[in-house]
Amino acid sequence: MIHVENLTKSFKIYKKQPGLVGAVKGLFSNESIIKTAVNNMSFHINKGEIVGYIGSNGAGKSTTIKMMTGILTPTSGKCTVDGLIPYENRQKNAKNIGVVFGQRTQLWWDLPLTETFSILKDIYEVPDDKFKSRMKFLNDVLELSSFTQGTVRTLSLGQRMRADLAAALIHNPKVIYLDEPTVGLDVVVKENIRKAIKEINSEFKTTIILTTHDMSDIEELSDRVIIINNGEKIYDDKLKTLRQNYGYMRTIQIEVKNEQDAKKINVAKNFNLDEEQAKTWIEGQSLFISFNSTVIDAPTILSYVMSKIPISDMTIKEMQIEDIIKKIYRNDGDNISEEVS
Ligand SMILES: Nc1ncnc2c1ncn2[C@@H]1O[C@H](COP(=O)(O)OP(=O)(O)OP(=O)(O)O)[C@@H](O)[C@H]1O
Ligand SMILES: [Mg+2]
Repeated sequence: MIHVENLTKSFKIYKKQPGLVGAVKGLFSNESIIKTAVNNMSFHINKGEIVGYIGSNGAGKSTTIKMMTGILTPTSGKCTVDGLIPYENRQKNAKNIGVVFGQRTQLWWDLPLTETFSILKDIYEVPDDKFKSRMKFLNDVLELSSFTQGTVRTLSLGQRMRADLAAALIHNPKVIYLDEPTVGLDVVVKENIRKAIKEINSEFKTTIILTTHDMSDIEELSDRVIIINNGEKIYDDKLKTLRQNYGYMRTIQIEVKNEQDAKKINVAKNFNLDEEQAKTWIEGQSLFISFNSTVIDAPTILSYVMSKIPISDMTIKEMQIEDIIKKIYRNDGDNISEEVS
């Protein structure tokens, strides 16, 4: 469905000098540097896949997506989406794809949602009956009905994101690009959006590229992850393999009533594990346990802790994307950057 081959995008950035005089000078100077945002990127994505496209801030994720949607033209290399070259066939390609940029709404601020949807219906030339059944489906999975009458301006962030997703899906596109669709949302709305994405994928075999900084999105939605760093692909494989190769660490933070008590806890020792697999430490009133979730699970650890000491609260944190990238670099190159064809 999506073929990306040696795709590269470089930006020319003009150097600015400090201060107002510098800014004015900068307008006339030719001093510039080249920033390569995406460097020689290649991958293939099959119909119906949900792929997590992840990396640190500035890694080049959005730039890749902008080339795949046709917003940007690559400096070199090529990509095709359902047989079309997006930046050469922008209009045709637009009918095949849906895009959500979580950081920025694509809706019209002053229009009620219902009107926005009917304008999009016309733009995408969706027939009446298809539109009707589509809206019903979207209303059901995204629970839109309580706020479709108000203008976009009045929507909460969570409502707006669901509306954005619906707007991107009206024409039942073959491919959807979700660039941080859960950014800034609370847990309940995140869950609702993830459920909707899963349902759309399983019902219509929609191909989904998902960019996020939240590993829980990836855990719940994608089987495959592509990790990029400095514009280059450093990992492309099953999420399961990522966990196996790089020891997928989770951290439990437990609020204890008494710090002295917390000193009794040592997960590695109790379960006879390596310190690398389960580390225990104390910071103030909190007991931290970082553990490899392929070796031991959270309920086992919690029941051990609770059998020893009273606790007042606890949270579980997923490993951060930055931690995974560090781990990939620390391991030798054998597992890195395998091509999937
Ligand atoms: N139009 C542009 N002109 C100049 N540089 C740009 C432009 N767009 C992106 N860049 C640069 O390219 C790099 C990659 O940016 P990109 O937005 O693709 O990153 P990202 O992975 O989406 O990051 P984030 O997680 O912060 O959204 C960054 O260094 C950014 O500053
Ligand atoms: Mg981005």
